[in-house]
Amino acid sequence: MRVLVTGGAGYLGSHTLLELMALNYEVCVLDNYSNATPEVLSRVRSLSNGTVTDYTGDVRDDAMLDRVMAEFRPDAVIHFAGLKAVGESAEKPLYYYDVNVGGTLAVVRAMERAGCNRIIFSSSATVYGEPTYLPYDEAHPTTPKSVYGQSKLMAERILTDWTVANGAASAVILRYFNPVGAHISGQIGEDPSDIPNNLMPYIAQVAVGKRDVLTIFGDDYDTPDGTGLRDYIHVVDLARAHVAALGYAVRHTGARPFNIGTGQSYSVRDIVAAFGRACGAEIPVRQAPRRVGDIAAMQADAGRAMRELNWKATHTLDDMTVSTWKWQSGNPDGYTR
Ligand code: NAD
Ligand code: UFG
Repeated sequence: MRVLVTGGAGYLGSHTLLELMALNYEVCVLDNYSNATPEVLSRVRSLSNGTVTDYTGDVRDDAMLDRVMAEFRPDAVIHFAGLKAVGESAEKPLYYYDVNVGGTLAVVRAMERAGCNRIIFSSSATVYGEPTYLPYDEAHPTTPKSVYGQSKLMAERILTDWTVANGAASAVILRYFNPVGAHISGQIGEDPSDIPNNLMPYIAQVAVGKRDVLTIFGDDYDTPDGTGLRDYIHVVDLARAHVAALGYAVRHTGARPFNIGTGQSYSVRDIVAAFGRACGAEIPVRQAPRRVGDIAAMQADAGRAMRELNWKATHTLDDMTVSTWKWQSGNPDGYTR
């Protein structure tokens, strides 16, 4: 099977390439390197000892999409390319809608022109918004609190309407919870270009000495230790969910959302303690007020993905922190873009 991976040089895309190549999928990447470096694909090639066709270009570029479709002739597309910073999305809403909504629309239109009917889409648990109950199942109301979340929900809508009109089309919508961790080799991992927004890469940079102290945002939530609870999922488990989703897309038409999480949640303090075990040193922390826009707790009901995709997360919290530390300590400056 031939799979076009948009955003394949990014954090989630690169790990997914390795899982696909291990199973002999033929892969092709379209990436504009706005948040990645070509070095990622060099490492993927050497780790897999395989071929990655790649195009440098934007998913909003129709001519480029037509060229990739004509030359690579994918059987399916995994659409990772997009923007993901919640704070930035409030400052640059038009940019976020352009890339995340316009980019998805352009990809699907190009697929339709080429007769490619299967897409796996990177959505986010943030489409649910403030929980009315937990764990979230896929029927939970969707009321995203950020422009970023809205852009993901709009893209989901576009894909859903497309499959209603095109009876041969299949859209598997993966709502990721909190992806963390790195490949077991320590050769690829998450490489934020700026100050990390997210907890795990921030802790990793404190542990390696690039930052002084982790700021814990809020200790007065209604949670067991007062800090935020999240459903962290190992990036390799998440990558494998895409392989399972491709199989599902071959067997089914229509659009269907799936939660991609473990069903378990950990607090900020749990993560700090686990990282301390992984790196063998205590992580310095300071307490600060809640971060604006944060919710107290998020947790997936991952039952649908288990039943229908035949997929289940298998990595533990220690797997997440140990692999992150292996990546960060071996590559203190990331890919050095
Ligand atoms: P990432 O930034 O590491 O990867 C995205 C890739 O897309 C990068 O390589 C970037 O260069 C590329 N890209 C961005 N805009 C592009 C464009 N217009 N044309 C072509 N390429 C473009 O991010 P990631 O963490 O790997 O996330 C991948 C997807 O998953 C995103 O759509 C993101 O919104 C979604 N997601 C991520 C998380 C997370 O916590 N990492 C959570 C939920 C959903
Ligand atoms: N946190 C800190 N200090 C930090 C960073 C985070 O205490 O420096 C806390 C947060 O307050 C939260 C938890 O750690 O309680 C996790 O925060 P992250 O920023 O790592 O993750 P979020 O759940 O806030 O956000 C993630 C993605 C978003 C996505 C959202 C919902 O980064 O893109 O999940 O899916 F929208």
